[in-house]
Amino acid sequence: MARVTTTTTADQRAPAAVLPPLRIGPLQVDTPVVLAPMAGVTNAAFRRLCRESGAGLYVAEMLTSRALVERSPESFRIIAFEPDEVPRSVQVYGVDPATVGAAVRLLVEEDRADHVDLNFGCPVPKVTRRGGGAVLPWKRDLFRSIVTAAVQAAAPRGVPVTVKMRKGIDEDHLTFVEAGLTAQDAGVAAVALHGRTAADYYSGTADWDAIAALKEAVTDIPVLGNGDIWSAEDALAMVAHTGCDGVVVGRGCQGRPWLFADLAAAFAGSDERVRPGLGHVAGVVRRHAELMVDHFGEEDKALREMRKHMAWYLKGYVVGGELRARFGLVSSLAELDDLLAELDLDQLYPGAPAEGQRGRAGSPKKPHLPYGWLDSRELSDEFRRDLAEAELSVSGG
Ligand SMILES: Cc1cc2nc3c(=O)[nH]c(=O)nc-3n(C[C@H](O)[C@H](O)[C@H](O)COP(=O)(O)O)c2cc1C
Repeated sequence: MARVTTTTTADQRAPAAVLPPLRIGPLQVDTPVVLAPMAGVTNAAFRRLCRESGAGLYVAEMLTSRALVERSPESFRIIAFEPDEVPRSVQVYGVDPATVGAAVRLLVEEDRADHVDLNFGCPVPKVTRRGGGAVLPWKRDLFRSIVTAAVQAAAPRGVPVTVKMRKGIDEDHLTFVEAGLTAQDAGVAAVALHGRTAADYYSGTADWDAIAALKEAVTDIPVLGNGDIWSAEDALAMVAHTGCDGVVVGRGCQGRPWLFADLAAAFAGSDERVRPGLGHVAGVVRRHAELMVDHFGEEDKALREMRKHMAWYLKGYVVGGELRARFGLVSSLAELDDLLAELDLDQLYPGAPAEGQRGRAGSPKKPHLPYGWLDSRELSDEFRRDLAEAELSVSGG
């Protein structure tokens, strides 16, 4: 793997890495970098690759409180941590305070997590239509109840709870400052803000000014910034722009777990960056696939799950369209080996084409909301009665 030291002029030079370790309750994260939870991506296999590259906190895929309480096999796959993974970071999604409380109690009483993050950021219609994810903090009482239930359930074992949220439903219905203050007041250990509304979905650019505004308002606990960090330089720029206490990185590390090495270097004040040639990328793809087979226990399933990673890994490298397409249909390790052997493994790092935006993008979407959701900031009796039913087995976003 090529590690290069980039030379920068005085004008371009990123601000010195000056952040102290991130404190999340009793946990100390020396490099203030968090791998964003991503459903279908941040499983134990991918987290291992990220961990081996850098330093930080690596959040597992989201699980729904209801599925966990019902002990679904899929929830237990999600929270199956490797023995050397410390801290074990779990994200829970839920809309019913009682179920969220029960899920967090299960996690801490059975010693299955060292950190619990609550998802209030999901913008997908099947979630927001039920009042969940990014549109939930609009109901102030419900938001407070869920956060309080989680904090109280985690407290006996000293497990910190954090909140991850978006700016609000849309620009006319912003909730993040109020939700941040409520979360702080309810005893959460940190709040993270993705600088987009539910209506923004993944479009446009993340609003880092909103992260700065949250940092100004929430003064007693760390504020983490999230959105559009594609490089270590972006991470430093976000810190400089917002004053945030740490960064949360999602799509930027898809197909690029070595970004965590760049982030660790940058926060340590070093200019060293990983610039892998295609041979190195091929080695990481192979290892990722092996780890996925270990994780899923089935080669077929693991390789199907690997398919989406292929375009991310190959982004920017010269690989023919037909070969790329075959990578996207790979179904066994043997087939993967054949495909990797067809790559020009001497190809050097391509620079800009491998950098910048990757993964989900798209255009704004009008959020789907439960009937009458915007009429009041408090929960209606009717919706309250349906809460226990309102949680679906959803997968993140
Ligand atoms: C494939 C995918 C799955 C995601 N799943 C979750 C999730 O389960 N929980 C969550 O809070 N956010 C989820 N997100 C949002 C990310 O955690 C993150 O907030 C968002 O991508 C913005 O950060 P980024 O610009 O660094 O990607 C997901 C994003 C993607 C692209």
